[in-house]
Amino acid sequence: MAKKDIVLTGDRPTGPLHLGHFVGSLQKRVELQDKYKQFVMIADWQGFTDNFDNPQKLRDNVTQVMLDYLAVGIDPKKTTFFIQSLIPQIAELYFIYLNFVTVSRLGRNPTVKAEIQQKGYGENLTAGFLTYPVHQAADITIVKGTLVPAGADQNPIIEQSNEIVRKFNSTYNVDIFPEIKIVESAVSRLPGTDGKAKMSKSMGNAIFLCDTEDVVAKKVMTMYTDPDHIKVDMPGKIDGNTVFAYLDVFDTDKQMVESLKAQYQAGGLGDVKVKKYLIEVLNNFLEPIRLRRNEFAQDKEAVLDIVIKGSEQVRCIAADTMLEVRKAIHLDYI
Ligand code: TRP
Repeated sequence: MAKKDIVLTGDRPTGPLHLGHFVGSLQKRVELQDKYKQFVMIADWQGFTDNFDNPQKLRDNVTQVMLDYLAVGIDPKKTTFFIQSLIPQIAELYFIYLNFVTVSRLGRNPTVKAEIQQKGYGENLTAGFLTYPVHQAADITIVKGTLVPAGADQNPIIEQSNEIVRKFNSTYNVDIFPEIKIVESAVSRLPGTDGKAKMSKSMGNAIFLCDTEDVVAKKVMTMYTDPDHIKVDMPGKIDGNTVFAYLDVFDTDKQMVESLKAQYQAGGLGDVKVKKYLIEVLNNFLEPIRLRRNEFAQDKEAVLDIVIKGSEQVRCIAADTMLEVRKAIHLDYI
């Protein structure tokens, strides 16, 4: 990674952020802000593509997502926060990029394909939703981003962004946009509390960074373990056991985790006991985040101000990028 690398990531403001976001990207952002110029974007336009009938949800969650960012330690002194819809140049670049990708290629993007299926869109699939990876390419390239810390599910989107950007550069024989690389998290994916592959708000299997101690306890107690482990003295399986998957990620006491695993596999360690231990681990992890979140929540106007000021800065950068783009496409009238 060269020093001149620029980091950009974002999240749709469809709800507060959860542990899956933390391991997938938030953690990395805290680290990267010390090494690179970093932008963190609230992707309200992307959220709009499947919430256009309920935009108030997006509006309300902008502050929630900002509070989560600040609470985990993404620092406005080091990171520039902005709101996607406050940068009109992203829409402009998106429109241009739409010509550098085919409809059939868009339909083959595995991440989008899975979402379309999950939402059961069928004939109701909108052009807006199908093309969201195109404005994601614009989000990243409007600030000439080169690094995107994200979970593995973002890989196909980054790949598609690079195809668009390469085609743009080669069509006009320019070198405006650099190649984008994903910075994959160490933990590829945190399962949901139900044991399903992915933690997600819409699947109702998420533990949120703002959940209270009691809510965390309740969620852990219902967590998926080894369905065949019915009695305490029976040997249990670790593989596919969500409680141990979480301990692997969140417990810093690796020796303890290993010894619990050994006991569980040998028989004699009950699910309730391991769950109680996980509750303690998670609440210890979340406590400082909760405290900081509550502090920042005292002044929500100041929080919104951070992201509005950041957006002003990004608009200037975006305007410069668009000057180059208009020149490249020979539509530079002024
Ligand atoms: N697609 C991301 C998500 O669903 C959000 C996002 C929008 C994003 N634009 C981005 C992520 C640019 C990284 C870079 O969470």
